Amino acid sequence: MPRTFVFDAYGTLFDVHAAIGRYRAAAGPDADRFSEFWRSKQLEYSWTLTLAGRYLDFWTLTERALDLAFARFSSVDKALKPKLLGAYLALDAFPDARAILRDLKARGDATAILSNGSPNMLAAAVETAGIGGHLDAVLSVDPIRLYKPRPEVYALVTERFKIAPGEAVFVSANRWDVMGAAAFGFRTAWINRTHLPAEYEPPPDAMLAGLNELITSAP
Ligand code: LAC
Repeated sequence: MPRTFVFDAYGTLFDVHAAIGRYRAAAGPDADRFSEFWRSKQLEYSWTLTLAGRYLDFWTLTERALDLAFARFSSVDKALKPKLLGAYLALDAFPDARAILRDLKARGDATAILSNGSPNMLAAAVETAGIGGHLDAVLSVDPIRLYKPRPEVYALVTERFKIAPGEAVFVSANRWDVMGAAAFGFRTAWINRTHLPAEYEPPPDAMLAGLNELITSAP
């Protein structure tokens, strides 16, 4: 029976560290720590705002987190800001992203993105990766002004596809996002490319080393 495969965007289909990757030499020796800090602050802002009952769109959070990263790492030249933001809008997709979406669609499954990303960010990333033709829906949290892992976010999928949670397979490299999806009732696949240790309960239905494994080992 055809199923609905729902993908997280940032970190799962799109490589969030590809932006710094393009300017690694210019960014200097703190480049990787800078990129990790940028990403973790971007996520922290999404969680704390939602807990506080407030909302700013993900592009704004991405820029504010980047500003904080420049303040934290004085070794990184602030002149890189527009370049890094531009690169973030056109992030590289992981090498197996396009093929898995194409192959799932080819065998009759439905495919979607569910992301914290603002609609303009997602549109730009989908366009750059050339995956728009392999997606049935690109769903942003922006209309409901709440971030993952609020259950209202995962409900955007069941509302859009008119399915029960158990009919969707949620795919994310972010373990906390997999936790939220499982709590909502989705089947889950955790893409663990870098052999991170297990965390959260329950375990994901599948732990995979890459998106390509979904074809044979989806839960
Ligand atoms: C997203 C964030 C979690 O794409 O990476 O929703």
